[in-house]
Amino acid sequence: MLILHVVGARPNFMKVAPVARALQSAGARQCVVHTGQHYDANMSDVFFRELGMPAPDVNLQVGSGSHAQQTAEIIARFEPVVLERKPDLVLVYGDVNSTVAAALVCSKLLMPIGHVEAGLRSFDRTMPEEINRLMTDQVSDLLFTPSSDGDENLLREGVAREKIHLVGNVMIDTLIRMLPLAKERVPQDLPLRFALVTLHRPSNVDDLDWLSGMLRTLEGIATDAEVLFPVHPRTRQRLAQAGVNGAGLPHIRLMEPLPYLEFLGLQSRAAVVITDSGGIQEETTYLGTPCLTVRENTERPVTVEVGTNRLVGRNMERLRTETLKVLAGQSRKGGIPPLWDGHASDRIAAIITGKRASA
Ligand code: UD1
Repeated sequence: MLILHVVGARPNFMKVAPVARALQSAGARQCVVHTGQHYDANMSDVFFRELGMPAPDVNLQVGSGSHAQQTAEIIARFEPVVLERKPDLVLVYGDVNSTVAAALVCSKLLMPIGHVEAGLRSFDRTMPEEINRLMTDQVSDLLFTPSSDGDENLLREGVAREKIHLVGNVMIDTLIRMLPLAKERVPQDLPLRFALVTLHRPSNVDDLDWLSGMLRTLEGIATDAEVLFPVHPRTRQRLAQAGVNGAGLPHIRLMEPLPYLEFLGLQSRAAVVITDSGGIQEETTYLGTPCLTVRENTERPVTVEVGTNRLVGRNMERLRTETLKVLAGQSRKGGIPPLWDGHASDRIAAIITGKRASA
């Protein structure tokens, strides 16, 4: 049996690693196609190294572009690879442009598709990722969900029950495996108390007035805890356009995007994480670190219902007061959602190969 994995952007890499490992243990033949959506070394290569993944078998090198250009390039370049390799199943991950592009190619070739992290919905169709999720799930044959809300969403959209498999969260498989090493990597010169910030969603960073306002709010908070801010390439471009650089922000440490282990180590030590990422809402829930999400909605409601996540929306005053509350020790202790236990990938491998999971 040949399984072909498609990855392209930073949040895919920590999801493919444990699934590939579990499939290898189950004896499946595999190959990995990297679309090249993310191409900077610190957005891509470093993750393969740290996660112990072999280099991708094929790199489509699509690079940046508008959503249409990027998606179209992936479609055009991926089709011949699938035709040549003839896999038995193609696995796609998460909700990035690479995910939907590869799924569309396979659906037209009548090639079976498995979607890892299926069923998540923000119900906000202004998010490009929501469109990617909806389309990918509609054409997938095996839908692996991380939490039961995913199953409910898919059933409501008419996906057949027998295609849906609640397996848990593969990103948490990686977190559990790497956490001991990540804790060893925490830099010695960290401030005693710090807030960790990541922002990259178009809705937060493409509006330059809003972005500058958010930085001023963070600078204000920084008298209570230093702010560490690894800056995504999209955000760096926008900060440059807004004429913002570190000089005007003495309490905020603007940093390059961090490798997986370093970032995980920081999440485990942060007093609070402020983010608009999807995956970070989940990682902080597992770690029990308070998380404030600068979005009006989340496709990961279990992190709010069970975990440590709070939505602060597009409201600066709320961000300020909620952060100060957390820093004053007033944060709810969260729990860990069911099946976020380090074995989601074993369950996926068992379903694909028909062999019993080792756990
Ligand atoms: C993508 C995903 C998003 C995910 C995020 C994580 C989609 C629709 N979005 O958003 O879901 O949360 O990745 O990082 O797929 N760039 C670089 N170097 C790189 C990669 C990108 O400089 O290695 C620049 C590009 O030139 C572009 C910008 O960053 O201008 C955005 O990259 P892109 O992949 O289009 O989307 P993201 O915003 O990263």
